[in-house]
Amino acid sequence: MKLFVSEGNPQSLKVLAALDTAGVQCDVQFVNHEEKLVPFLSRPTLPVLLLPNGHHLFSPNAICRYMFEVSGQEWHEACDQWLEWEATELQPALLQALHMAVLQGKESEATKVLTGPLTYLDQSLSKATTPYLTGEVVSVADLVLCAALQPIMSTPTLTSGEHKSLKVWFDHVASLQSCVSASHKVLQGKGLQAMKSFMQRQPAPQSGQCQSSMLPCNSSSAESEEGERAVSQEEMEAAVLIWNKGSNVPSATTDRLHPILPQEGKRNILLTSALPYVNNVPHLGNIIGCVLSADVFSRYGRLRGWNLLFVCGTDEYGTATENKAREEGLTPQQICDKYHAIHASIYEWFQIDFDFFGRTTTEKQTEIAQNIFWRLHKNDFLVEDMVEQLRCEKCQRFLADRFVEGTCPHCNYPDARGDQCDKCGRLINAVELKAPHCKVCGQTPVIRSSKHLFLDLPKLEPQLEQWLDKSTSSGDWTANAKQITRSWLRDGLKPRCITRDLRWGTPVPHPDFKEKVFYVWFDAPIGYVSITANYTDKWEQWWKNPDKVELYNFMAKDNVPFHSVVFPCSLLGAQDNYTLVNHLVATEYLNYEDTKFSKSRGVGVFGDMAKDTGIPSDVWRFYLLYVRPEGQDSTFSWADMALKNNSELLNNLGNFINRAGMFVSKFFDGCVPAMELLQEDKKLLALVGWELQQYIQLMDKVKIRDALKHILNISRHGNQYIQVNEPWKKIKGGDGERQRAGTVTGVSVNVACLLSVMLLPYMPAVSQTIRDQLNAPHSCVNTLLFDKGAFTRVLNAGHRIGNVSPLFQKLEVEQIEALKKKFGGQQPEDEPPNKKTPAQNAAGHTPSAPAMEVNASIDPEKARQLTHAVAEQGEKVRALKAQKADKAVITAEVSKLLELKKQLALAEGKSPEPAPIKGKKK
Ligand code: 2FM
Ligand code: ZN
Repeated sequence: MKLFVSEGNPQSLKVLAALDTAGVQCDVQFVNHEEKLVPFLSRPTLPVLLLPNGHHLFSPNAICRYMFEVSGQEWHEACDQWLEWEATELQPALLQALHMAVLQGKESEATKVLTGPLTYLDQSLSKATTPYLTGEVVSVADLVLCAALQPIMSTPTLTSGEHKSLKVWFDHVASLQSCVSASHKVLQGKGLQAMKSFMQRQPAPQSGQCQSSMLPCNSSSAESEEGERAVSQEEMEAAVLIWNKGSNVPSATTDRLHPILPQEGKRNILLTSALPYVNNVPHLGNIIGCVLSADVFSRYGRLRGWNLLFVCGTDEYGTATENKAREEGLTPQQICDKYHAIHASIYEWFQIDFDFFGRTTTEKQTEIAQNIFWRLHKNDFLVEDMVEQLRCEKCQRFLADRFVEGTCPHCNYPDARGDQCDKCGRLINAVELKAPHCKVCGQTPVIRSSKHLFLDLPKLEPQLEQWLDKSTSSGDWTANAKQITRSWLRDGLKPRCITRDLRWGTPVPHPDFKEKVFYVWFDAPIGYVSITANYTDKWEQWWKNPDKVELYNFMAKDNVPFHSVVFPCSLLGAQDNYTLVNHLVATEYLNYEDTKFSKSRGVGVFGDMAKDTGIPSDVWRFYLLYVRPEGQDSTFSWADMALKNNSELLNNLGNFINRAGMFVSKFFDGCVPAMELLQEDKKLLALVGWELQQYIQLMDKVKIRDALKHILNISRHGNQYIQVNEPWKKIKGGDGERQRAGTVTGVSVNVACLLSVMLLPYMPAVSQTIRDQLNAPHSCVNTLLFDKGAFTRVLNAGHRIGNVSPLFQKLEVEQIEALKKKFGGQQPEDEPPNKKTPAQNAAGHTPSAPAMEVNASIDPEKARQLTHAVAEQGEKVRALKAQKADKAVITAEVSKLLELKKQLALAEGKSPEPAPIKGKKK
């Protein structure tokens, strides 16, 4: 890695401080401000981080974030929120203030510009009970904010002395060695003057750019309104250029021809979702953690033109299956057949588009698992040992880990499982459990010994570490995956038993272990391979081709060690050129309302019940992805689902797309009108283009939840654009006005078309409906292939659209209340509110605050009118500021604007209060 920075560039401060704190290996090079390092950017941009794969990171906060992730430090959502605030609220104000102070010598005016954000930060800090922004230890948020404020805060004439808490925090963070050293390198003790040459090269901040700094920070950038992000002339011109290239969208075919095999010159991606246990109906938490996340990413990958194979299947062996069979009076095979079909139909309903959905109880599984076993044996990576095992004399069988419970020998948690303690997370050998009891009959088991085979993990450890270093630094591993893996290695690896005294499993082929089968966690991941082999005879092209194939594994975090340590060790030890995971994507846990999903208590929504709610599959997908536990645990809440459906889908997204289509139908006889772009249209193109870029960058990094917010931003921009331009009025005017109505309609309907493509991974059916309604050419799904994903015109003047109709339906309060009642989620009497569920909170995460109740006052019509009023008032304020009107006048108009925003928030069912940044204790 190489980091390029320049002297006097305030953004260089933060990346240097972050680099120092993260302790990552990286060359640092000071270059001239004019150095153009990112080939496709038109302006020189610094700092820039050159990654080992040749890609560039050029957003300073993304660089800081990356360093922290690479160093494996845990990431908190609160950090994201502060970084976002820094970039969207603080930076514009800082830029303007620095411009005034450094170049114009207007220090007192510069101070005023900063009042809003500094007061906000000061207030947040004064309410905090921890010394740092996100907790007890310094985080990337502290470094970024402190470095950003460094030039200002260390200039006495620019600080008012009012912000006491801010001052205390700043002095503390700025005195950290990493900040001192960064400041020394970049500012060289010259203070503001060090920045002069840098500031002279910056475009002058446009008036109005900093308007948000005068308003309270009541919107995160993900939800910010059009106009709050400044768009430069250059951005607009670039956007127009791309827009005009419209007809060049490639018409590459998107049909999949099976079997999909790796291709020369393509990005070949093998994508797996953790194999669900066959003996259970999956709940929403299971679905979002594995198959749904993997599905979104694979659909996205196909839009990107990657050559991708998505496989999954049911994990069928093990005692759990034997037990279920006993329970239902069926044979294990019958159970597998029955539940495999149930799983398949649930995933079909959720539109999970596997290339192949197989199962682990197949001949290929036996063949491949036994082959790997023999290779491990031959290569001397298996050791024999006598094992003491628990046997329940009453049930007449050895107790698999899952069928014995007792007290954890490490932390004394009373409900530890036989293999792992849900409280302290440590692995347990079942015989070490204190006070063990059989989970089936409750009796105390006896200890018996027999000979077993172990995978020699300590012997494989050096190879594993070497591979892990490479994979985790070049691939996209989620922070939790890296952290869990590290903690396993830190504790030192021990040999792991891979055999079991059971009947329902892949037989161990060794003559000395005839009665035994493979342990499910040795066997299950081999399922990925055997399922692929059942899909195509040429499976080795995927699985023994690490140089040409990239492997993504999707799972929930409890599966991480098996995918990052145990399975890779099996494959490394087999010495057969296996493809190992490049990108390990693990979610945190999804809670249900204020408790956890529980089959036995009948709490929560399970896959087979979702369709009985009458809520469409796409809406389920949308909401689950909206609350995807990405980076921290999250909560499914009925009230919140209704809220998001009514505000985001109905009021925002659906409303925009429907209006765009309706204008074409009603005002232009169903034909897209001619478009003559004015400044305002160009600005929208630039805004939409920017959101699209964010979406692509996030999706490429599997930030599925974050990327979704940018889709919703686009329709928000679109709604505001329509609202401000009022095509329904202009259509009644003279030629010029009618022409404007046409342009606005034409641009809008193209935005709608782009949205249909961006939505495809999330809501495939809605995406198809939109494309049908717009009669969009099939090639529009190739938009993401064009110019690395750019917003271009696909629906040209004269294009005839289809029939337009509403896309979403309101979820009524009564309906939601009834569903909530039906599926549980009331506070169970035996559990205190918000009791942490050990299994889901092993990492000590605090579940998110329960979402607010459905607001009965949601009023789409009123919201629409208010959106208009806010936009108008915003324009008015901007105009007044541009004219440098009297301050009192501006202040009065600003407070009107604030009041309108408050009303709008209420009508949209949102809280009108400034959103507190999470992670801070109040
Ligand atoms: O946790 C589970 O649901 C396991 N059945 C996942 C197995 S993933 C893979 F290894 F097969
Ligand atoms: Zn424990």
